[in-house]
Amino acid sequence: MGERPTLDVSFGDIHTQNVQQLRKLNEHTFPVKYLDKFYQEIPTLSKDFTQFAYYGGFVVGAICGRLEPMPDSTTKKRLYIMTIGVLVAYRECGIGRKLLEYLLENASKHPEVALVYLHVQTNNETALHFYAKAGFEKVGKIEGYYKRIDPPDCFVLCKPIHLDTTDPARITAALGLPTDTTATTAAAAAD
Ligand SMILES: CC(C)(COP(=O)(O)OP(=O)(O)OC[C@H]1O[C@@H](n2cnc3c(N)ncnc32)[C@H](O)[C@@H]1OP(=O)(O)O)[C@@H](O)C(=O)NCCC(=O)NCCS
Repeated sequence: MGERPTLDVSFGDIHTQNVQQLRKLNEHTFPVKYLDKFYQEIPTLSKDFTQFAYYGGFVVGAICGRLEPMPDSTTKKRLYIMTIGVLVAYRECGIGRKLLEYLLENASKHPEVALVYLHVQTNNETALHFYAKAGFEKVGKIEGYYKRIDPPDCFVLCKPIHLDTTDPARITAALGLPTDTTATTAAAAAD
């Protein structure tokens, strides 16, 4: 990395009038197909965690995060990154990092956000590097998370934001993970 230029992108909200551009982007970016309910939900989410990246007037990337209740807290929330994707031709130019920074900076302004988490297919070395560089750590592995892609397993990655503990057991509890770091939950939004 390091040889490609950093591209000067602008950001824009995802709403009902342009959400089909997200569908097109995702079809070119992910090995899983996201269901209609995913595209119905995105425009309803906070723009602090859901954005398009534009270059030259065209959508070249997007991040989609949503706030969720924490199983073990009535006041705190967890922020789940559903997707982050950049078109192949525009990768390794800093766009993914800028999208993630946008979400993380906004998360830090929300005191109720305890942590950010996400799932990554176990063989997705690029994404694992990408998130490690941003300070995310592996906190679990879910076997059989994906129904239609191989390998079907994912890692759960997490980055604390306003978390009042460093106890790994509390973090896995907040994410609904068993403490042995494996589980058999299947994906709900993607297949
Ligand atoms: C993961 C993804 C969003 C990264 O976007 P990107 O715009 O290419 O990433 P950036 O250029 O901002 O890179 C930021 C850091 O990520 C890491 N990274 C990015 N691409 C990498 C690669 N191919 N190999 C190793 N590390 C990589 C680097 O550490 C990089 O930092 P550096 O430039 O200082 O070395 C992009 O590869 C993508 O869309 N992948 C397909 C979808 C996906 O897997 N999404 C994640 C799971 S939801």
